[in-house]
Amino acid sequence: MTALTTNQLEAFWLPFTPNTEFKRRPRIVSRAEGMYYFDQDGRRVLDAAAGLWCANAGHCRAPIVKAIQDAAATLDFAPSFQFGHPKAFEAAVKIAALAPGDLNHVFFTNSGSESTDTAVKIAVAWHRARGEGTRTRIIGRERAYHGVGMAGISAGGMVNNKRWFNALAFQADHLPATYSRAEQAFTNGQPEWGAHLADELEKLVALHDASTIAAVIVEPMAGSTGVLPPPKGYLDRLRAITRKHGILLIFDEVITGFGRLGAAFAAERFGVTPDMITFAKGVTSGAVPMGGVVIDKAIYEQFMTGPDHAIDMFHGYTYSGHPLAAAAACATIDLYRDEGLFQRSAELEPYFGAAVHSLKGVRHVADIRNVGLAAAIDLDPIEGAPGKRGFETMKTMFFDKDVMFRVSGDTLAFSPPLIAEKSHVDEMFGKLAEALAAA
Ligand SMILES: Cc1ncc(COP(=O)(O)O)c(C=O)c1O
Repeated sequence: MTALTTNQLEAFWLPFTPNTEFKRRPRIVSRAEGMYYFDQDGRRVLDAAAGLWCANAGHCRAPIVKAIQDAAATLDFAPSFQFGHPKAFEAAVKIAALAPGDLNHVFFTNSGSESTDTAVKIAVAWHRARGEGTRTRIIGRERAYHGVGMAGISAGGMVNNKRWFNALAFQADHLPATYSRAEQAFTNGQPEWGAHLADELEKLVALHDASTIAAVIVEPMAGSTGVLPPPKGYLDRLRAITRKHGILLIFDEVITGFGRLGAAFAAERFGVTPDMITFAKGVTSGAVPMGGVVIDKAIYEQFMTGPDHAIDMFHGYTYSGHPLAAAAACATIDLYRDEGLFQRSAELEPYFGAAVHSLKGVRHVADIRNVGLAAAIDLDPIEGAPGKRGFETMKTMFFDKDVMFRVSGDTLAFSPPLIAEKSHVDEMFGKLAEALAAA
């Protein structure tokens, strides 16, 4: 296959990428199958990231491909404003069936970012509908990533994503991050230390008053800032404090949903039921963009009290519940069930955890964290050039070792498709150990 020309490379401004450097030696993949990507010369690259935390069922899986093809040929588009089509309802039923408690209603979006916006808007609107319209503040957390919409920027806790846009952001405050290297270094699974950090919510309530706070949004396991598993007991405490003060609790499960932590949702794994769950990515195994919010019955019902001709909530997207995405979601969720992939993820977790921790003591490794089939390795930064060691390691692994994973600063993140074999786990961490030793 012919390589892309310089002019072709210029037209596409890649997101979250140093574009000039990328275009000098682009990392291009043109085909995928199961656990692998293939570049334009047919070189096979192990996907240790499930694409971007999304291809949980592996790539180009036949039942998902067929469902999308059939949908494209049968119903290319149908509006979800005032009309509907069967697959979107079918997908909602399947997703709601996987969610805990009374989280029975699904609002569809096209991405994680839109899901954050949607959940936050529902939270604020719900309080207002109940006569508590002063509850508009959102509490996020340091080191959180909730996407790049304005709700994600406001509630998120990553300075590079915020500082250029803060003038546009809305009122939010933040809990402290749950990570402390001094207390938790090289913990395999959930740390013992840190549950008390949930109590900081009491201080924020004392500062702002509960009557101004609509919701707390957290990732049960922070993903993008380097796999921060929740300290034992932390999420239970957040649940108790939010309930005590009438504050809604939103779990952002864009990464943790659909088997990443060995259960349908992290809420199930950790035994804590929030009021809303946001999802995206794994719902279609990344094959078609789709996201959404699963909403507690009581919240939904609050909106269903108006006259017959009146819209119950002024929110939605042209592509909410798009036929191709809905078909992909149905086929993906069936595939997860038929192949027992959530269970498989749980069964592989101890092996995966031991394998990543075998890198302790390898050159440049400063910390390792993991839960489910998600792991992160912090590398010691190069003095004066933070992020460079991580970036160079990612490139060496892609070009010379045929392994692809995610890098964020000097943190390497691993989240393979749930169909991974032990041999894949050995390959990704074995080759990384070699690369770091030689760097
Ligand atoms: C927890 C979390 N929320 C939201 C998002 C944003 O999703 P998207 O990129 O689909 O907008 C991400 C993306 O990685 C995420 O990890």
